[in-house]
Amino acid sequence: MADPKFIKDKDKLCELAPVATAAIERHVFVCNGKSCSKVGSAEVKDAFVSELESRGLRYGKESKGRSPEGPILLTDCGSVGLCSIGTAVLVYPENVWYAQVRAEDVKEIVEKHLVGGSVVERLALVNGRKA
Ligand code: FES
Repeated sequence: MADPKFIKDKDKLCELAPVATAAIERHVFVCNGKSCSKVGSAEVKDAFVSELESRGLRYGKESKGRSPEGPILLTDCGSVGLCSIGTAVLVYPENVWYAQVRAEDVKEIVEKHLVGGSVVERLALVNGRKA
């Protein structure tokens, strides 16, 4: 394995990873672990991609159909432990963990929570509890 170089210059680090200084308001994680994959996590992720990108809300490179000014970062993640009640979707900074999310729920999560700031209580297993 190559020995990774360690960069001390924070300005250089931010230049290499512009997401670090982007004006992100919320970070959404969609679990794509083994169990969530079996209950449609790929469709859930696709629904978030479609809903966020059509509204210009997804942070990222324009060349990828995203917006450098987008306030929402969308990320895949591995299992977070809700395996028997997936698909798991986590939203920060509110620390809301949604369970049993299906693709048809995504529009409501985007509209009500990510745009409107109100948690979708019927899907929220954890709502703001400190870890
Ligand atoms: S596989 Fe998604 S929470 Fe475990």
